[in-house]
Amino acid sequence: MVKRHDEQGPTVVTKDPMQETRKRDHIELTQKAQTIKSEVDSRFFYEPLLSAHPNSENSLSTLFLDKKMSAPFWISSMTGGVGEARHINQNLARVCREFSLGMGLGSCRSLLESDKYFEDFNLRPVLGNDLPFFANLGIAQVETLVHKNETKKIIDLLNRLDTDGLIVHVNPLQEWFQPEGDKFQYSPIDTIERLCRTFEGSNKKIIVKEVGQGMGPKSLKALLDLPISAIELASFGGTNFSKLELMRSKESQFSKIDSLSKVGHTSLEMISFLNNLLNANPKYLEKQIIISGGIDNFLDGYYLQEQLNFISVIGMAKSFLSRSENYEELKTFTEAQIEGLKMARAYLHVKSPEAL
Ligand SMILES: Cc1cc2nc3c(=O)[nH]c(=O)nc-3n(C[C@H](O)[C@H](O)[C@H](O)COP(=O)(O)O)c2cc1C
Repeated sequence: MVKRHDEQGPTVVTKDPMQETRKRDHIELTQKAQTIKSEVDSRFFYEPLLSAHPNSENSLSTLFLDKKMSAPFWISSMTGGVGEARHINQNLARVCREFSLGMGLGSCRSLLESDKYFEDFNLRPVLGNDLPFFANLGIAQVETLVHKNETKKIIDLLNRLDTDGLIVHVNPLQEWFQPEGDKFQYSPIDTIERLCRTFEGSNKKIIVKEVGQGMGPKSLKALLDLPISAIELASFGGTNFSKLELMRSKESQFSKIDSLSKVGHTSLEMISFLNNLLNANPKYLEKQIIISGGIDNFLDGYYLQEQLNFISVIGMAKSFLSRSENYEELKTFTEAQIEGLKMARAYLHVKSPEAL
């Protein structure tokens, strides 16, 4: 039996039909429900008294890169151009549409040469026009096109895919580890600056990212000084493409030099760089950030997002990929991220570094 107050009277007593089952479950599961003190997630103050449970009015909607997303989650650039990629990409785009999220494609390099795999990447019809959707190229391909004055090929690609713009991944370590990797003839910042000039008047946006090792303060500042729209952190602590190439290249001359796969910056460190740069130059606030690299779930994302002073969304690659074969599994995971983030916003306050 439970007691509750309502408008008809001070106290009403009602029968709770699940009470007996629940009580039995509680007794049976107590042993399994023990927690270990050292496993407490000490990043947050948990404040159970200060909020009601979230309801439909607790909106997570975010205006990101001029488009409205219902929640600040982003599917980071992944795959295309292999057999199973089409099914995976279709599912990823479908979940973006169902929950109004944003998405970056994996490298569209093959589409510069042929349309054989076009349908793997042709996701605008699935996403609809209202959500942010970006193509992706490596800096090596961009360098070649920029220096041959062929950037029209990039704009054509973006128009064919009807994307809001281009994500450029900058990956000197990955290319170095990759047996068939490209070598840059120019500094990436020089290439990106030239790319920005050719994009003027095109209404296409540019995002720049790494591929799992993040970037230091000088590179971040150089990007913030360019007319790009956003930076994706792709930081250290999650999928790392240098490490991945090392595993692919057992025979390569570099296979024993794994120390360079361990350098880089975590998201937390990059957030501190970005906030310091913003303090020095408030104009940088016009840039937006995709926080990504090693984010397992909404709680990691919430922890980081709360500390960053820029408009941001939470990007995940591996966590979405590992559920992408099965749409129902992907949908359940995505829904849990959204509802979990609402709960985190209601009941968790991030501890300042001094409180840790
Ligand atoms: C299977 C797979 C393929 C990827 N391909 C690309 C790519 O083509 N272009 C790119 O910029 N990043 C690519 N990435 C890197 C991700 O966008 C992301 O930066 C990185 O995986 C870190 O995120 P995570 O720790 O959540 O996996 C790929 C990641 C995965 C897992």
